[in-house]
This record gives sequence, C-alpha cells and structure tokens, in this order.
Amino acid sequence: MHVDPSRHSNKLAVIGTGYVGIASAIGFAEFGNYVVGYDILSDRIRQLQRGLTPYHEAGLAESLAQHLHSGRISFTDDLSAAVEGAAFILIAVGTPTTESGSADLSAVEHVISSLAKLDLGNAIVVVRSTVPPGTCDLLADRFDGNVEVIYSPEFLREGSAVSDFLNPDRVVIGGRSDSAMQRFADLLAPLMRPTLTMSATNAELSKCMSNAFLAMKISFANQVANLCDEMDGDALQVLNAVGGDRRIGRQFLHPGIGFGGPCFEKDVKSMIHLSRTLGVDCDLLDATLGLNDRQPGRISLILEAELGRPVRGMSLGVWGLTFKGGTDDVRDSLAIRVIEDLAAHGAEIVGYDPAFKDPDHTLPCRLAHSALEAADSDALLVLTDWPQFRSIDMRTVGHKIRSGLVIDGRNVLDGDSVVAAGLRYRGIGRRRSSDAAELAEAG
Ligand SMILES: NC(=O)c1ccc[n+]([C@@H]2O[C@H](COP(=O)([O-])OP(=O)(O)OC[C@H]3O[C@@H](n4cnc5c(N)ncnc54)[C@H](O)[C@@H]3O)[C@@H](O)[C@H]2O)c1
Repeated sequence: MHVDPSRHSNKLAVIGTGYVGIASAIGFAEFGNYVVGYDILSDRIRQLQRGLTPYHEAGLAESLAQHLHSGRISFTDDLSAAVEGAAFILIAVGTPTTESGSADLSAVEHVISSLAKLDLGNAIVVVRSTVPPGTCDLLADRFDGNVEVIYSPEFLREGSAVSDFLNPDRVVIGGRSDSAMQRFADLLAPLMRPTLTMSATNAELSKCMSNAFLAMKISFANQVANLCDEMDGDALQVLNAVGGDRRIGRQFLHPGIGFGGPCFEKDVKSMIHLSRTLGVDCDLLDATLGLNDRQPGRISLILEAELGRPVRGMSLGVWGLTFKGGTDDVRDSLAIRVIEDLAAHGAEIVGYDPAFKDPDHTLPCRLAHSALEAADSDALLVLTDWPQFRSIDMRTVGHKIRSGLVIDGRNVLDGDSVVAAGLRYRGIGRRRSSDAAELAEAG
C-alpha cells in the first residue's frame, strides 16, 4: 500500500536504523504514527524497504512486514525526504566508546550538522542515542534557537526490543523547552507510563546511571559467585534470597561470565571518563568494570582445575556466541572474549549459536551447524544464556563430550539434569551438582 507520510501530522523521522531505530520505528507505528526510517547505509535501507531486517529478533521481521504493508513505516536514504513534514526527528545512531572511554559522538554530530542545513519546520529533534551529560544542550546550540532539541533515552533491551519499547517502566524526557517536552510526552501518552521531565543533563545522567547500576548489580552477583566457588556455596540460592528483599530485587542478580554487549561497558566507561574529567572519585564504577574484565577468565581457570591440564591442544565445544540470548549481536560479547582467550592459549574451538550464522565471521573458531556438532569436544562450555539450551536433552549430547565436563558460564542449564546424564557440571558460583549428588547419597 502506498501512503504519503508527509501528509500526516503524526509523521516521525527515525535517523539510524539499528537495533534501537528499527524497534522504535515499529513501536511508534504500533500506536498509529507514520514513521520514515533513514540511515547512512543505503544497502541497509534497500534491504529494509524489502522487509529484510538487519538483525535477528523474534517477531521483528513479521512486525516490520505488517507496517510496511500498512504504509505506517517506510525507509529512505534521502535525509531531506525523511524529515520533510516530520513532527519529530528521532536520532538513534550509535555512540560507541573511544580509546579514552569517552563516548564517540561523531555519528550524532554528523546527523546534527546535516539537519542544521535543512528546513525542519517546527519539528522537534529528539535524541534517543545514549549520550554523556551535557551533550544535548550543546547540540541544541547548533540550531541557533530555531529548533528545539530534547533528550529522551531509550531503555529497551535487545532480544525483546519492541516489547520493551512499548512497555517501559517510565518515560524520561529532558530539555529546556517545556512545550517541546510536553509535545513528546503527548506522543508517548499511549504507553500510559509515568513521565519524568527534567533538564537534558539530568535525563542524560539518568540513562547512563541506570545502565551503570544494572552493570553494578551483575558485578555484585559475580562477586558473590566467586566467593561461593571457594566455599562450596550456591550463588543461585544465595542471590535468590538476597534479591527476595524487595529493596534489592532479583533482576540482574544473575552470576556468569559478566556483562557484554554494546551498552553496559561503554556507558560505565563513559561515566568513569566523565567522573575523572571532573575530578570525582568513581571507585564503584571502576570496581564494576574491573570485576567484569576478569570474570571471563573464570572459564579457563575452571577448565584447567577440572581437567588438571592447560587448555593447549584441547578441543572445546561452545554453545552461544552472542552477548545475550535472543539476539544475533556479538558486539562486545564476552562469549567471544572467552573464545579469543582460549584460542590464544592453544585450544581449538567449535562454536554453535542459534542466531549468529555469519559465514564471513573472523572469530577464532569454527561454526557448527548444531548444538550436537559443537558438543563433539573434550569439554563443553555454555557462554550465552539462550533459553533453548536448557531444553536440550543432555543424554543425547553427553556421550560426545570426551571428558564429560560441562562448564555453564551463564548458569542456564539445569545442573541436576546434566549430572543425571552422567556428566560433570560446573556453573559460575554453583556447587558442583555431582558433589551435591554425592553428598546427598552419603547423607
Ligand atoms: N542496542 C541497545 O540495546 C540499546 C538500548 C538502548 C539504547 N541504546 C543506544 O542507542 C543508540 C543506538 O544503538 P544501536 O544498538 O541501535 O546502534 P546500531 O549500531 O545498531 O545502529 C546505529 C545505526 O545508525 C546508523 N548511522 C550511523 N551514522 C549515521 C548517520 N550519520 N546518519 C544516519 N544513520 C547513521 C548506522 O548505519 C546504524 O544503522 C546508542 O547510543 C546506544 O547506546 C542501545
């Protein structure tokens, strides 16, 4: 169906069609807006016009097809066509980390420079990319007061991006203009969530510090797990009890090989960089990152302790390559970091992932077509929390694992089922189920 979105008062332009851009485009289309997506990558735009999503997420392709068909979403590689007649211009380009730890704002800067040359009418520019405090006020100055720039962070997670977009716990909007913030709040009113308005700087701090806090919870869980490993404790039981306190909460208190992905590490680094620039102590953020940097190394320590020899020459099967289950994103994946570390120490690795299938990958491992194929190894490592790993019958793969050792770097498997299949199980901070079984037998 052909619809001319510029004739609709609720036309939005989304600049950047990555994980956030596409999920937002679908989300806004879901509640009745006309969205035009623009990206600097013309190939990506052509693919999106044909309904091909650049990344994997359950249900995404179907939702995109539905809204392409209804005409509520379209894509162009012409920026002026994308923004023409738009009421809101949403910026969702990447802000990766630099060598120094600061955020690389070159893509945002590029978009703002391009927009500043166009007639934007009375469109409001809404920055959705994660940017350090102070950024949006500086960006607003580039329009000489002719265009309102506000900041409204996105809190979605890959793997459940559209549903997170549609169900945020709260909406945060920051800026100088109350009327611009109100207009954007009205646009998001169908979400029916509490809306917090504040200065742009406070909104930018809110986003970065939310991610820093979640990262800190994960590092805390890993601190508990590493202690449990030394004293035969069970971190899952301990953290379940700790998180059962409503003041603490159970979410993100899950131990493993650490947090990866494109957000947490870069946002903590950005806050460390900012704190240092301002001369503010940031010991807590430093410790959060330091623990996370060391955590992937637990895998080779456990391997060598369990098998009593260095990893050189071992053939290792890996389940899970992406930074988390539900996505094909391997950016800053700690599974990859573990693989690189083990390969550098002379292990041969065969990896399997339900979503990551890139035939042109440059990872130091061979890609298997199935979980069974990857299990044909000296030991099996589970490095991503794909829920479907839990439903694999370990009796059908167990005989492939020559040492019988399964190291569950995400605590995703049911340790008792692994042991019942005649295998040895080690989680992160989890009592060896085999020992538990022996203890139970002895008791
Ligand atoms: N990925 C997440 O889970 C998530 C969640 C919340 C917030 N964020 C933040 O949102 C922002 C976007 O993240 P992402 O994961 O979607 O990034 P991404 O890398 O998946 O997508 C960014 C897109 O922007 C495009 N782009 C780059 N420069 C451009 C330009 N000048 N003009 C137009 N398009 C351009 C790229 O081609 C790419 O398609 C980041 O700041 C990130 O920190 C990400």
